[in-house]
Amino acid sequence: MTDAAVDAGRLWGGRFAEGPAQAAWALGRSVDVDARLWREDLAGSRAHADELLRIGVLDAGDHGAIVAALDAIAGEFAQDRFAFLPGDEDLHGAVERRLVERCGEAGGRLRAGRSRNDQIASDLRRYVVAAAGRLVNGVREVQTALADQAETALDWIAPGYTHLQRAQPVTLGHHLLAHAWALDRDAGRLADAAARADVEPLGCGALAGLTLPLDPARYAAALGVSRPAENSMDAVADRDFAVEFLAACALLGVHLSRLGEEIVLWSTEEFGWARVGDAYSTGSSIMPQKRNPDVAELVRGKSGRLIGDLVALLVTLKGLPLTYDRDLQEDKAAVFDAVDTLELVLPATAGTVASLTFDRERLRGAAAGGAALATDLAEVLVVRGVAFRTAHERVGALVRAVEERGADLDAAAVAAALPELADRAADLLDPDAAVARRTSPSGTAPSSVRTQLATLRTRLTAPA
Ligand code: ARG
Repeated sequence: MTDAAVDAGRLWGGRFAEGPAQAAWALGRSVDVDARLWREDLAGSRAHADELLRIGVLDAGDHGAIVAALDAIAGEFAQDRFAFLPGDEDLHGAVERRLVERCGEAGGRLRAGRSRNDQIASDLRRYVVAAAGRLVNGVREVQTALADQAETALDWIAPGYTHLQRAQPVTLGHHLLAHAWALDRDAGRLADAAARADVEPLGCGALAGLTLPLDPARYAAALGVSRPAENSMDAVADRDFAVEFLAACALLGVHLSRLGEEIVLWSTEEFGWARVGDAYSTGSSIMPQKRNPDVAELVRGKSGRLIGDLVALLVTLKGLPLTYDRDLQEDKAAVFDAVDTLELVLPATAGTVASLTFDRERLRGAAAGGAALATDLAEVLVVRGVAFRTAHERVGALVRAVEERGADLDAAAVAAALPELADRAADLLDPDAAVARRTSPSGTAPSSVRTQLATLRTRLTAPA
């Protein structure tokens, strides 16, 4: 690493007699990861050049040369022509090296009043804000697919579960919208994380602030960021915004995983609720009959790495003294991995949900067993004056007796054991009537689900 041309991408060296060891350089070099911040980095450099012009550190000639070179470098990145050299330690060093190649000494003037510590925090914050916005759109697509399916199946009867045991009949629309509401909170969390990331570190310097009269508010305004950082030491040390973003991504991953798991269950022969479309199913290399829900399984599986990205950054941060520590360089791999993962997972999930065809008869059959309406029997007894504790016991005893006979809980059995209910037994055991009774606003009655769906649809068109 002694060749001067190769060395130009290293932004330090004057105080060392020897260059870095190969192993040390290889460990620290981050261009493979941080190259994808080129847009944010060049925009930050442009704002910085304007500030240096304003305070007279750059004259108009140098400023013009720098701006033209930054534009040209952006073109190189955009066309995938930017060549990193082995001596480029990170993106910032590579850009400065290229600036000097393009505009000579002027390129060496841009570093005044700026540190890579505030620069990288600035770049990553703006990246996170933009990525969160893209992910919210992806979440909206999954919610829309769920809402569309729910609309079709608004009043279809399905068994509702607790403990994965059939509990009470529900409408399929109600069940599908439950997933959509969980995703709604994820969209909100991503938006919250973006709002707190929307702070500008440029103007903070390495940690202590600047002697040059650069204006933090102007950096923020130029970069479309809401406000400058309040404390320069915090600004270069803080990665809370990345943690919050990764936490939102991890929980989103967990919700998608739970949905994926249900799709896997529904598409089993045992459940037989739904069929995943061909385009989102895969076959087996040996078993010709197989139809596997691999996409839903991968959605479920990818949640593991999203959780891992969050944990990796939290562990990296734990115990770091203020302010900037090189450990912080590990932040980007976690953030980029989460974004890449979700940018694969979200469209695949939306497509899988849209491709589902539900078996209405099978669902209804699974829900129709009278025992699932035991609660309804007990509640009518309550309305007719029986204490719930007693009602629960009497209905429970009836269910046991019917089960012991190997029979179904039908109207005749109800009328015999619970004479108070004889007049309503058939209605009480009818699943359509049962869901229609649950008209509480968040309940499973088609009328309630229709209102809930309308509320969700307005959320899908409003900003998160
Ligand atoms: N590549 C570094 C990072 O990603 C940039 C900041 C480096 N600062 C420093 N003083 N070495 O965090």
